[in-house]
Amino acid sequence: MGQLNHSTKVILNNQNFESILFERINKNIRNISLKKDLIDEPINYSLSNPGKRVRPILAYLTADAVELDLQKIDSVATAIEVMHTYSLVHDDLPCMDNDSLRRGKPTLHIKYNESSAVLAGDALQSLAILLIAEDKYLDTSEKITLIKSLCETVGHNGMILGQYLDLKFEDTNPSNTEIIEMYGLKTSLLIEFSIISPLIICNKLNDDWKDLARCIGISFQLIDDLIDVTQPTEIIGKTASKDIESKKKTLPLTEGIGKSQKIIEEYKLKAFEKLHILDLDSHPLKKYVDDLFRRVN
Ligand code: IPE
Ligand code: IPE
Ligand code: MG
Ligand code: MG
Ligand code: MG
Repeated sequence: MGQLNHSTKVILNNQNFESILFERINKNIRNISLKKDLIDEPINYSLSNPGKRVRPILAYLTADAVELDLQKIDSVATAIEVMHTYSLVHDDLPCMDNDSLRRGKPTLHIKYNESSAVLAGDALQSLAILLIAEDKYLDTSEKITLIKSLCETVGHNGMILGQYLDLKFEDTNPSNTEIIEMYGLKTSLLIEFSIISPLIICNKLNDDWKDLARCIGISFQLIDDLIDVTQPTEIIGKTASKDIESKKKTLPLTEGIGKSQKIIEEYKLKAFEKLHILDLDSHPLKKYVDDLFRRVN
């Protein structure tokens, strides 16, 4: 793993960059020391069954693209995945989306109980912040900037507002613009933070990076909504066609599959244009982004 640190060439030459980064984040997660009983057991259940780990992989690839030592982004990448895991645990609760399957396994409140799922989610939030606060490789001002930005991302003007609107829209008829704004808040902001956080650390954030991050973030939710209606439960590891049953206002449900695919294609073209401007045509970030646009789970 040490080899990866000054890593542009190492990752560029490595066809297995995705599995290397996937293993790096899983190792970081395993290193979070949790007991095997009481509330730590459900917390561990939620963290140890890996999803795609998209957000930390994006953080590592962005760090690599700007030649930032990957060690500098380890705690933030892990914190983002922990924060994302909390959002899924609460998103699945009966009072939210009421889902019984996540990553091919029973959701936390089904496996344990509702109170454990609420408390495990709460604990995951503070754990995420603590991971950054206790990091060895960031200095104090970097930690404060990153923690502040992460709290804004997931807080009452960010992800939580998006989740509120997502539920409210079940009973209303939002416009396409309102639906896309809701995607921006509930999902895109945290994905954007994955890309933006390494750039904050090395002071390289600019409008092209911000636009790229937005295209990836918004299209990620749009593709999630598309695969809800096009892919079976066994592929997505979640109950298929759940959004229709819940009266969710997603673009595939309000505008149809064809129009949604067209919008996704537009985001992809814009993302590729930004990757070109950023001189990343041959960087693995481009291949990874391309794969995200083709994903079926
Ligand atoms: C699912 O996120 C929730 C959304 C924001 C669409 P992911 O598709 O990244 O879920 P995992 O982590 O791979 O399970
Ligand atoms: C989840 O969106 C967004 C957050 C968890 C913040 P969805 O409700 O569409 O995600 P899935 O389909 O349950 O994974
Ligand atoms: Mg939801
Ligand atoms: Mg959901
Ligand atoms: Mg969904």
